[in-house]
Amino acid sequence: MPTILGIESTAHTFGIGIVKNKKILANIKDNFTTESGGLIPIKVAEHHRAVAEGVLKSAIKKSGIKLEEVDAVAFSQGPGLAPCLLEGKKFAKKIAEKLRVAIIPVNHCIAHLEIGQITGAENPVMLYVSGANTQVIAYASGKYRVFGETLDLGVGNFIDTFARYVGLGFPGGPKIQKLAEKGKKYIELPYSIKGMDVSFTGMQSKLRQLLDKGENLNNLCFSLQETAFTMLVEASERALAHTGKKELLLGGGVVCNSRLQEMCKIMCKERGAKLFVPEPALLQDNGAMIAYLGEIMFKAGIKEKNLNKIDFKPRQRTDDVEVKWK
Ligand code: ATP
Ligand code: FE2
Repeated sequence: MPTILGIESTAHTFGIGIVKNKKILANIKDNFTTESGGLIPIKVAEHHRAVAEGVLKSAIKKSGIKLEEVDAVAFSQGPGLAPCLLEGKKFAKKIAEKLRVAIIPVNHCIAHLEIGQITGAENPVMLYVSGANTQVIAYASGKYRVFGETLDLGVGNFIDTFARYVGLGFPGGPKIQKLAEKGKKYIELPYSIKGMDVSFTGMQSKLRQLLDKGENLNNLCFSLQETAFTMLVEASERALAHTGKKELLLGGGVVCNSRLQEMCKIMCKERGAKLFVPEPALLQDNGAMIAYLGEIMFKAGIKEKNLNKIDFKPRQRTDDVEVKWK
C-alpha cells in the first residue's frame, strides 16, 4: 500500500494531508486570515512559505508514520493564485527530492469531488462552492464536465466582497450567515441564472445601493443568502435532471453554511436524490483531499519522476484534465 503526502496551497489555505489505503492519517492546515481587507496573493504566498515546515512536522507527527515512508508527493496544480501555487509546488519538489520519490500533480476541483467517496457518494453531481470557484461538476463520457458555473465571481468571493464593503473581515461568509439569521424580511434582489450558469455582480451592485440607502443589514444578508443559494440549488437540480444522476455531493467552504445545506436537503428529498456532505475539515480546502486523489492517481500509474517537468497551472480547467484513473 502506498503512502501519499498531499499539499494544498491554491488560495488562503496551506494544508498537508497523509493518506494510506484511502484512510486519512493526517489533515493539518494553517489558514491565512485578516481582520479587515482582502487577500493579497503575494502576502498569502509569504504566509504559506512561513508555515510550510511547521505544517509538515505536525502532519507527520499526527500520522504516526516517518517522512521516509512516504511513497509519492501529490500537490494542487491548479486552478488557483499563481504565487500560492508556486509555493506549494516548490515545497512538493523539495520533499520529493529529499525522499527521491515521484510527484503527482492534482487538480484541486476534482480533488474536492473525489474526496466525496469517503461519504459514500459513488457517481454524484457535485455543487462546488468556494471562494474562487462556483461550479456544478459531474463525470460524463470520460471526463469531469462543468455543467454550470459562475460567469463572474465565485459565490464565496461575492459574499466576502459584500462583507468587506460592510466592514467585516475575511472570511465574510460566517459573519454574513450570523447576520442573515437575524434577518426577517425578504428584499427582492437580482436573480441571475442562465441554464446552469449563474452570476453575482448584479446582486452585488444592488446590495450596495440598498445598504447605502439605509436598508437594514440583517435583512440584506438574509435576502442575499436566500437569493444566491436558490440560484445554486436550481443549477444543481437541473444538472441532476440532465444527467439522470441520483446523488448530490457538496464541496467547498461555502457549504459550511447551514442554510445552503438545508436548501439542498429539501431539493434532494423532493426529487428522490441522496445528499452527501463531507465534514467541514474535508469541505474546505485541505491537503487530505489532494493526497486522497493523489493515491488514486498513483495506483493508476500517474506520476512524474522527472521533477523538472512539474509545473503549476493557475487557470487549469476541470474539463482539461485527462481522467486516466477511472
Ligand atoms: P478555492 O477552493 O476556490 O481555492 P477558497 O480558498 O476560498 O477557494 P474554501 O476554503 O473552500 O476555499 O472556502 C472559503 C470560502 O468559504 C470563503 O469565501 C468563505 O467566506 C466561505 N465560507 C465559509 N464559511 C461560510 C459560511 N458559513 N457561509 C458562507 N460562506 C462561508
Ligand atoms: Fe477549494
